Amino acid sequence: ARIRRYKWEVKYDYRSPDCVKKLVITINGQTPGPTIRAQQNDTVIVELTNSLLTENVAIHWHGIRQIGTPWFDGTEGVTQCPILPGTTFKYQFVVDRPGTYLYHAHYGMQREAGLYGSINVALPDGQSEPFTYDHDQNIILNDWYHKSAYEQAVGLSSIPFQWVGEPQSLLIHGRGKFNCSKLTIPTLDTGVCNTTNPDCSPFRLIVVPGKTYRLRISSLTALSALSFQIEGHNMTVVEADGHYVEPFVVQNLFIYSGETYSVLVKADQDPTRNYWITSNIVSRPASTPPGLGIFVYYPNHPRRSPPTIPPPAPVWNNTRPRIAQSQAIKARQGYIHTPPLLSDRVIVFLNTQNNISGLVRWSVNNVTFTFPHTPYLIALKENLTHVFDQNPPPDGYDFMNYDIFKAPENKNATISNRIYRLNFNSTVDIILQNANTLNPNNSETHPWHLHGHDFWVLGYGQGKFDIYNDPKKYNLVNPIMKNTVPVHPYGWTALRFKADNPGAWAFHCHIESHFYMGMGLVFAEGIEKVGKLPSSIMGCGETQGLYRP
Ligand code: C2O
Ligand code: CU
Repeated sequence: ARIRRYKWEVKYDYRSPDCVKKLVITINGQTPGPTIRAQQNDTVIVELTNSLLTENVAIHWHGIRQIGTPWFDGTEGVTQCPILPGTTFKYQFVVDRPGTYLYHAHYGMQREAGLYGSINVALPDGQSEPFTYDHDQNIILNDWYHKSAYEQAVGLSSIPFQWVGEPQSLLIHGRGKFNCSKLTIPTLDTGVCNTTNPDCSPFRLIVVPGKTYRLRISSLTALSALSFQIEGHNMTVVEADGHYVEPFVVQNLFIYSGETYSVLVKADQDPTRNYWITSNIVSRPASTPPGLGIFVYYPNHPRRSPPTIPPPAPVWNNTRPRIAQSQAIKARQGYIHTPPLLSDRVIVFLNTQNNISGLVRWSVNNVTFTFPHTPYLIALKENLTHVFDQNPPPDGYDFMNYDIFKAPENKNATISNRIYRLNFNSTVDIILQNANTLNPNNSETHPWHLHGHDFWVLGYGQGKFDIYNDPKKYNLVNPIMKNTVPVHPYGWTALRFKADNPGAWAFHCHIESHFYMGMGLVFAEGIEKVGKLPSSIMGCGETQGLYRP
């Protein structure tokens, strides 16, 4: 195993990812940031200098379990104090499994400002994947707002609530195209909106006829659920969140924020023309135009547009094909990790939207999450019991009386920083139960992401989860392991994981605004087994006295 060293400078730059000039956060001048490339069991060292001048930062290594290094998970408020402007912080961790992962800001709503990138972990020398391809390409999908993350965050915590609305653009690997005539304040100033700016020239994938491409497709959308498609080409899904998938073929890939997939695409269509690559919003009645890229057959001119109109988007509110795709994702034969057959604890998490005296929040089991000023990992390890509420939050909701198909009767919720303590090495089942939002006849899709673990996806269902009968339908034979999973509108999703990673770990909806509005929680396990905390993670809240440089 080797050491992979990176030196990153994080700062603001003016960029025009969708042709509209905006302040974005870059890493060494790039957004998406540089791809981290390593082999299984390598150590990655990132020395990050915060040059944002007026803003803190922290970076989370999404999908990397941080076994033995829970303090480098990069989750501000949970595993570390924020990195102050002008300082350098060293992350150091082992990438212990091959596959496709992500990194992104985990401080405030900074991810939306462009601070994200990919982590590709290859197999060790001499080992090979259970599929073959000629080329490997990362494609990060995103949605894009013209308003700053600050303006959005302030709106979310204002009374009355001010919602930023739907994103202006969809980006394919950091590139989109906004129609300048649609700006809210129209201008002819090409400094503001300029469709010939090279920042917003479309993403182009140049392919050689007959070759097979591994596309590592991931989503880091702030809000949107997406459908990704390559006109006229099938895609074979082979990897999900770093686990091999029993291959299946799709025309369009539904992908939720925080998920990563590898698909194989063969350049086997008429090579005399080019094809559209599209990304479209599903699950919301969005007005955002599709994200467009071009699948270019070599030696066609890369600027040549396809002769067709882009393929239509799936019907936004048809959940059936989305549930069907979720259910089709199974572990690949020969690579199955069988789950424990029984669990030690079952926690049902009812997902609701609430209104607490004019403040709109998201909750699980009627608790809306808020961070203490001292990161949990440090508070737990150093026994600072007064920094957060020590009572346990609820393991379920009022199952008999709560109608998940109606807006909540009681819109109130408890604002709390309580956490779930799990017995070390115990097996935990999580049932994510979706419900109606504050608006009648509306339920959203929430992609839930767990830090520090992969979980088995035991099943998906519609309506209210039945704790007596639904577990009988669990897939205990070949469930896929993932770190991010959707709960579909009015549906439930059942997960199982082993609490075998000493530390404090966030579990939250990956929609940036939902997490910001309280849709998350923290698990803690095996704290007595956590090694000595590095002083670099300290300095804030009650940890100031513990900071010994
Ligand atoms: Cu990718 Cu806690 O997030
Ligand atoms: Cu959500």
